[in-house]
Amino acid sequence: MIVRRFRDEAAVADAAARRFEEAAATAIAARGTFRVALAGGGTPKLAYERLRTLPVDWAHVETFFGDERAVPPTDGASNYKMASDALLAHVPIPAANVHRIRGELGAAEAARRYALDLGEAPLDLVLLGMGADGHTASLFPGGVPPDEPRRVAPAEGPPPHRQRITLTLRALRESGSAVFLVTGIAKAHRLAEVLAQARSGEATLPAAGVCSGTPVEWLVDDAAASELPLEENES
Ligand code: 6PG
Repeated sequence: MIVRRFRDEAAVADAAARRFEEAAATAIAARGTFRVALAGGGTPKLAYERLRTLPVDWAHVETFFGDERAVPPTDGASNYKMASDALLAHVPIPAANVHRIRGELGAAEAARRYALDLGEAPLDLVLLGMGADGHTASLFPGGVPPDEPRRVAPAEGPPPHRQRITLTLRALRESGSAVFLVTGIAKAHRLAEVLAQARSGEATLPAAGVCSGTPVEWLVDDAAASELPLEENES
């Protein structure tokens, strides 16, 4: 596990965009395609906007989502809409390569169909955010169990968008690598707790649970890192 600290959210966004570009080039060179799950929420938006300008071979990128709210793709709460407005509508990715979670069908049916779309092949990269409660994707404390055998599950989040669909820890741990983007002072205390759990192997918070499977890189700004030990920069 690696923690990389940056001065501000713009620097985090630049680093995340470059990490995406590198992972895409490596996967496409090796297997002809790059399977990536995009994070929702607000933090990744700047990184997606940066990605528009980078030389990614979009014709060979298959885009999935870490989670979605059970809303239509036109809804302001849709993670798909955020990613489309910030990135997907601005790059030459074939429409068939954008694997949207069809939240408008309701959580159970959307999860069933997304699991079929995702298939069995592992993702090469998962981009993730972290909530101040230690959730990631729509894996909330006390929600979808860590040992959920499915790769995709319906989930429940805080109001107003309680009904959700999420990749499970199984899917996240199976991926080639995971990159968290965490910024802002509001997450500093929880980030310190999550990293401590990840290091101890005693993960109770979902964001920490990801770290016991796939190689994880944390891209954090100084504000979010303000409660980490000063030497906290590497694995
Ligand atoms: C969601 C996201 C969620 C998000 C965190 C952090 O659907 O809300 O998938 O897991 O990544 O809540 O959100 P911010 O980046 O907006 O702080």
